[in-house]
Amino acid sequence: MITPERRGLLGLEGLNAETISGYLESARRYLPTVERSVAPEHALRGAMAANLFFEDSTRTRSSFARAAMLLGMQVVDLTESGSSASKGETLLDTALNLDAMGFDVLIVRCSASGGASAVAARTRCPIVNAGDGRHEHPTQGLLDVMTIQESLGTVQGRAVAIVGDINNSRVARSDMHALSALGATTVLVAPPTLVDRRLARAVQGAGEVRVEHDFDAVLPHVDAVIMLRVQLERDAGSGVPADFRAMYGLTAARCRALRDRAIIMHPGPMNRGVEIDAAGADSARSRILRQVTLGVAVRMAVLERAVHGA
Ligand code: NCD
Repeated sequence: MITPERRGLLGLEGLNAETISGYLESARRYLPTVERSVAPEHALRGAMAANLFFEDSTRTRSSFARAAMLLGMQVVDLTESGSSASKGETLLDTALNLDAMGFDVLIVRCSASGGASAVAARTRCPIVNAGDGRHEHPTQGLLDVMTIQESLGTVQGRAVAIVGDINNSRVARSDMHALSALGATTVLVAPPTLVDRRLARAVQGAGEVRVEHDFDAVLPHVDAVIMLRVQLERDAGSGVPADFRAMYGLTAARCRALRDRAIIMHPGPMNRGVEIDAAGADSARSRILRQVTLGVAVRMAVLERAVHGA
């Protein structure tokens, strides 16, 4: 029997290509349901999820809710301000209470790195990490590799630039693990103050991970660029050089320097006019809204495994 910890998803670090591909395969099966061309089968009818979001979210929270509902689940949605967290209750105590109520899965977002694993160590029901501090955002990592696979045919052998505030990004960490496991090359592009070289060395897997500081030199050599927001809420401010936008913003001129088939991605929320301009965000190369659609299918796959252990 698979333990709740194995059924839930806390991070992509250490997952092999087979496990990641298994999630993507299952997500591809669910995609027609998300795109509304096939009626939902409600494979998890009767099961109940609690969305426990102790950090703000637009996409991830509603995407998990829609994924759960398309599976026929019912969803309870808790945020920090409307729950007893505002009265001083900790995330762990909140999670233990929901676990005691008998929910089938808890979906957890929090600002503490490692927070989802700390909760999973104490709960009976499986935990799905929806982003814990700077640590990981595994469903975003899965939806990002699914987007690359769909647009470019394969992930293996592709070169992907992740650009901006790498140090504070859980998306960058999950992306690196997934890309490397699937045999892609990851290029982390940032000023020295926003990327710690040890991050690249910590990734296992077949694909290389390297750090570069010159975005313009990298642009013509990659198949995808993933632009990141500067995480001011994680104190990134002091590490942001005055010329950040000039050096690292995805402007119209930089879009023209990309390879013909290269795609543009962003996990959202975008800060237009800072890390990305309309010329990139709204162009034919942009896969930003496609990421959002695929994200629902990925979350259906993750919830199915968490609840059914399949
Ligand atoms: C990201 C997050 O919260 O980690 N967004 C997301 O979940 N799609 C990135 C960010 O906040 O910049």
